[in-house]
Amino acid sequence: MIATEFVSTPHPAPLAERERIEILKEPGFGRHFTDHMFVMRWQAGRGWHDAEIKQRQAFSIDPANAILHYGQEIFEGLKAYKTTDSRIFLFRPEQNAQRFAESATRMAMPALPTELFVRAIEALVTADRNWVPSGDGSLYIRPFMFADDVFLGVRPARAYTFCIIASPAGPYFKGGSKAVKVWVEDTYTRAGYGGTGAAKCGGNYAASLAAQAKAIEHDCDQVIFLDAAERRWIEELGGMNVFFVTNDGGLITPPVDGTILRGITRDSILTLARQAGRRIEERKIAFDEFRDGVRDNRIVECFACGTAAAVAGIGRICRGEGDFVIGSGSTGPVTEELRNQLVAIQRGHAPDENGWRHEVSGG
Ligand code: PLP
Ligand code: COI
Repeated sequence: MIATEFVSTPHPAPLAERERIEILKEPGFGRHFTDHMFVMRWQAGRGWHDAEIKQRQAFSIDPANAILHYGQEIFEGLKAYKTTDSRIFLFRPEQNAQRFAESATRMAMPALPTELFVRAIEALVTADRNWVPSGDGSLYIRPFMFADDVFLGVRPARAYTFCIIASPAGPYFKGGSKAVKVWVEDTYTRAGYGGTGAAKCGGNYAASLAAQAKAIEHDCDQVIFLDAAERRWIEELGGMNVFFVTNDGGLITPPVDGTILRGITRDSILTLARQAGRRIEERKIAFDEFRDGVRDNRIVECFACGTAAAVAGIGRICRGEGDFVIGSGSTGPVTEELRNQLVAIQRGHAPDENGWRHEVSGG
């Protein structure tokens, strides 16, 4: 059975209005949360049920809950944007729904129908519409699902909780739109063939943290992972896909063949670049080809992209063997152009020729 009615228990803002407005001016990333949450349960033999929007609050978790032991958890990340005339748009939420269903299948969890996933997000954004920043900010939306079953045997859980929380967001990186520095990780890898690299599951991020800590130690903002088998091919960053810009304005990006996340921003950039007549190569690229290409001026820019970070220029690469700068070390013109084009569509400043914007009608 699928829940079709959501119970809504609106709760007045627990923060004074003045304080909330201050937060919305400079929200940072992932530090503040809206008033409400969406929660829905699934049980074997019963399906999805008890969908509700309620005041954001803690879960009570039994110490033998499977989530605490075997990590059966998946999540998504997408944003809502407020236009100058106070309309609210989501960006390609059906794509997140589809990826969420794929992640669920990989992690032996129940899939959530696209329509229900999108409607739940709309319901939460509507309840929390006053939390959607205008201007350069956005509301970061985090749907997630976890095993919610009390047992210690290793098997898929027979009960799950699906939840959505939201957080007003400013720039992901501390330096705002300044080009970032990236650490190339030689010891730890993120995913192998047949593993969970293509799923958005919490375990992938847990596995990335030791490498991210090394990146921070080396004064870098993010980590770039190489392939698990040869430590030769560039895969993706800890929380973003990666692109290289060639000296003819073409783009190279690693293919989605099971070890990296199929980024929605990645797909949007590829579509926009293709429509603008840029040459696109979705292929494996070795770290050596990248480093030599930068030295010989065949690769002139590099950027990371994802929902949280949007499009971020990469200015410097750090690896045990030495550092190098890409181009001038700042965000390049092609990166800038693609970023501006994408952001203008997301924020409703440019025509939406690909039908990517999804208006939240009760927003
Ligand atoms: N790769 C990883 C590991 C990520 O965590 C993300 C962010 O969600 C991405 C890529 C980019 O995906 P998207 O553009 O759908 O946000
Ligand atoms: C996102 O961009 O939505 C992510 O999940 C990545 C994470 C770095 C916040």
